[in-house]
Amino acid sequence: MKVLVTGGLGFIGSHTVVELQNEGFEVVIIDNLSNSSENVLDGIVAITGKKPIFEKMDLRDKPAVEDFFKRHADVSGVIHFAASKAVGESVENPLLYYENNINTLVYILQQLQQKPEAHFIFSSSCTVYGEADKMPITEDASVKPAVSPYGNTKQIGEEIINEVCKVSNINSILLRYFNPIGAHPTAHIGELPIGVPQNLIPFITQTGIGLREQLSVYGDDYPTPDGTCIRDYIHVVDLAKAHVVALQRLLAKKNLEKVEVFNLGTGTGSSVLEVINTFEKVSGKKLPYKIVGRREGDIISAYASTDKANEVLGWKAQSTLEEALTYAWKWEQKIRS
Ligand code: WQD
Repeated sequence: MKVLVTGGLGFIGSHTVVELQNEGFEVVIIDNLSNSSENVLDGIVAITGKKPIFEKMDLRDKPAVEDFFKRHADVSGVIHFAASKAVGESVENPLLYYENNINTLVYILQQLQQKPEAHFIFSSSCTVYGEADKMPITEDASVKPAVSPYGNTKQIGEEIINEVCKVSNINSILLRYFNPIGAHPTAHIGELPIGVPQNLIPFITQTGIGLREQLSVYGDDYPTPDGTCIRDYIHVVDLAKAHVVALQRLLAKKNLEKVEVFNLGTGTGSSVLEVINTFEKVSGKKLPYKIVGRREGDIISAYASTDKANEVLGWKAQSTLEEALTYAWKWEQKIRS
């Protein structure tokens, strides 16, 4: 079966393409290369031996999207990653985020709703929960007012999908990621270092390799055991596998509702200092860091309840923080060699 993966040359997208191919799916990728590179295709082929179809396209180009679905009329399964995802950038340039994250979603759904049946997996985020009232966070935790245009586009995206699935033959699964980290164990694919990393793990590995002077820890005065923020860091391969399980669930018509929601996390929270200590253990390096002021918009703590994903979706993260950091470090060393 042919599956469209939008943003399929991106970090999570490329790892999902590998797992789809491992499960025998034929994959067609749309990517505008704004935050990825065509070389990622070589990495995918190095792992699976199979080259996905790749079409360079900007999903904001509505006629191009319509033409794509005419040429690939047999595509009824879509995993939609393509979106802008930098929280800080979204605050400075909200319209870029509303155009790129919402318009493109609408154009794809307009095509899918014309089909007798369609299966849509949406890349959402734990950001929709904001500062959740209690840990671990369950899927029925309230969606809080977004603190960034990026987070708002995920909330609006989920609302659009719910409304469209009610009146069409589209079935959908919303996957709310916690913090994706790591790289493929083969080190053929990983998170491409484009610009100064906003996220913790790439900044740590670039500091470990000597590319960055030192890591700034954004605050150690939070109400947590060691004062630093807590997150649920999930290995990107575990995350990728969850997308295949979700698509197979829809194809097998096992979904209990037109739209289902699952948190994708490990269920374990780790503080920034715990991540630093684990990285030092994994790499054998002392990581230079300094404590600085808090970062605007950071929440204190977020980690997932994994019960629904384990019991209903039938998926469970396998890799530990230590393993994910091992792969992230192996990838950093590989791309700098
Ligand atoms: C993690 C922790 C920082 C960098 C964001 C998005 C989320 C998702 C993942 C897209 C925080 C601290 C970080 C640094 C630090 N993105 N930190 N120094 O903010 O939890 O989530 O990325 O889907 O939607 O919100 O991830 O890795 O940026 O930060 O101290 O140089 O590390 O304060 O506590 P975050 P992060």
